[in-house]
Amino acid sequence: SASAREAAVAPPGGRSTLRRMTERVVVAGAVYDRGRLLAARRSAPEELAGRWELPGGKLEPGERPEEALVRELREELGVETEPLARIPGSWPLKPGYVLQVWTARLVSGEPRPLEDHDALRWLGPDETDTVDWLDQDRPAVAEAARLLRDS
Ligand code: CDP
Repeated sequence: SASAREAAVAPPGGRSTLRRMTERVVVAGAVYDRGRLLAARRSAPEELAGRWELPGGKLEPGERPEEALVRELREELGVETEPLARIPGSWPLKPGYVLQVWTARLVSGEPRPLEDHDALRWLGPDETDTVDWLDQDRPAVAEAARLLRDS
């Protein structure tokens, strides 16, 4: 029956196995350079415009998260980066999407808002609370800020 199938894939208190298997990953970067963290202000869609995020985007089929991150940061900001480590955690976005975050080091280039953003800021260790971050980015930003202060 439908309810038996539901029970099989939806253990109490957990998200269903099917949902987890089909979730699409959005990868974002906590990009560091010279002791500062990069924040990017979204220009679209309307409901997110003006809010700040860790830049990134959706994985393409077959792509590893680190590859997707390097590609997205190149496309959106015109920079080369090196992923360093995953920030533990996975945060729900719209249904079917989850956010994962990696720290990354700026290797070359000066970030410019080429697509999706209309402003960029480098935040020092005491400035990471000074922009209006997207709610879903806040736990990863808090950890990225802690790493920045401890480095
Ligand atoms: O560029 P692409 O379409 O691959 O991705 P995106 O539009 O930049 O991000 C996909 C979704 O993830 C959007 O709904 C963003 O709002 C969300 N996102 C987020 O919540 N936090 C981030 N740091 C990056 C993206």
